[in-house]
Amino acid sequence: MRYTGDLLIELLNVRKGYGSVEVLKGVNLRIEEGDFASIRGKSGAGKTTMLRIMGLLDPPDEGEIKLFGIPASRLNDDERSKLRLHNIGFVFQFFNLIPSLTVRENIELPLALAGIRKEERRNRVTELLRYFDLINLAERFPDTLSGGERQRVAVMRALANNPRIILADEPTSSLDDENSELLMDLFRRINREKRVAIVMTTTDLYEKLPTNRDFVLKDGRLTEFL
Ligand SMILES: Nc1ncnc2c1ncn2[C@@H]1O[C@H](COP(=O)(O)OP(=O)(O)O)[C@@H](O)[C@H]1O
Ligand SMILES: [Mg+2]
Repeated sequence: MRYTGDLLIELLNVRKGYGSVEVLKGVNLRIEEGDFASIRGKSGAGKTTMLRIMGLLDPPDEGEIKLFGIPASRLNDDERSKLRLHNIGFVFQFFNLIPSLTVRENIELPLALAGIRKEERRNRVTELLRYFDLINLAERFPDTLSGGERQRVAVMRALANNPRIILADEPTSSLDDENSELLMDLFRRINREKRVAIVMTTTDLYEKLPTNRDFVLKDGRLTEFL
């Protein structure tokens, strides 16, 4: 099911730790329609932990996460998976493409999981790759692509189900400057033209990004810098 409304993600006093170590010490955040947000923090600050909670992959120890106003704690595993599949796209640091599948097949995968028929899958992927000028990569295998191309394909896969939100965990950390810029251009287009909210993490505390909101995660707390 797809949800409408301006408030996409809300974290309310979220706490999370591993063993006796508290990583998130009461994090609050609201992500709205149209936002392109960065969450910046040093290695070990808790960025991945926070993103996994936002994507309903892990529950918080305390506090609440709401997607489209729905408290995640009220959903069962199946409902959470469906909400995730239809509304959130993930991009990881190391792409996570499947080596034995072509670019096209990799991007089709979430569509197959959503039960979409083969012909429609093909059409949608072709349209997506054409729109972003990546159609020439369609029949290639991941190990024939550069790092930058792999990451752009991973973004296409995240977009395949027309999500309302993309969560990207250090998507530029394994890319050179030129490919990082290309990726940021791609995110900016997705954000503006497809109206997909983007939340990305980075260890770069000061780099100028095409974001409209920037946060720092430090000592378990999140602060927005304005
Ligand atoms: N599954 C886990 N078990 C135990 N400790 C973890 C686990 N995941 C993360 N941590 C610890 O939590 C802290 C924050 O990790 P993480 O969220 O991955 O930070 P970041 O993504 O900002 O580098 C780190 O000290 C890390 O070692
Ligand atoms: Mg991390």
